[in-house]
Amino acid sequence: MSKRSFTSANKEQHSELEESYKVAREGVETIGLRLVVDNNKAGEMVVKMRAETATLFIEEIQIEKKYRRKGFGTQLVRYAEDIARSCRLTRIELRPFTTDESSMSTPGLRQWYSRIGYTETGDSMYKAC
Ligand SMILES: CC(C)(COP(=O)(O)OP(=O)(O)OC[C@H]1O[C@@H](n2cnc3c(N)ncnc32)[C@H](O)[C@@H]1OP(=O)(O)O)[C@@H](O)C(=O)NCCC(=O)NCCS
Repeated sequence: MSKRSFTSANKEQHSELEESYKVAREGVETIGLRLVVDNNKAGEMVVKMRAETATLFIEEIQIEKKYRRKGFGTQLVRYAEDIARSCRLTRIELRPFTTDESSMSTPGLRQWYSRIGYTETGDSMYKAC
């Protein structure tokens, strides 16, 4: 299992991103990642990579309530971009629909992704990498 250290706004917290699973089927590789802060699960992300279209799709991204607004969500998106580049993919895509209204509404999510470089296209958003 690969691990990567993450930095939070509070530098005293020890955070790591762990790969929890990896599955390859019918030309699509799916990777599940778990964010761990001070030995507690703080979030997760699932990405799907399709070589045929050179695209990485962020299927799921979620930060536990107590760890939100510390920069972890942005770091997970940046990590997805690193994975895409390292696999020579050229596009990142996602569908910005909130799964928890207590964090951001869907329009709020669209603004959040837009601030970190994503462009709207229909129901989806994308970024070239
Ligand atoms: C979307 C999500 C992953 C963002 O994670 P995060 O770690 O809080 O994000 P970051 O700390 O990197 O970015 C926070 C920024 O987003 C914006 N933001 C976050 N929550 C907000 C809220 N409730 N209202 C307004 N802006 C908000 C702010 O600009 C904030 O920056 P600030 O705290 O400096 O003002 C997290 O809120 C979450 O898990 N939501 C529920 C699951 C979900 O809807 N996932 C999206 C599926 S596409």
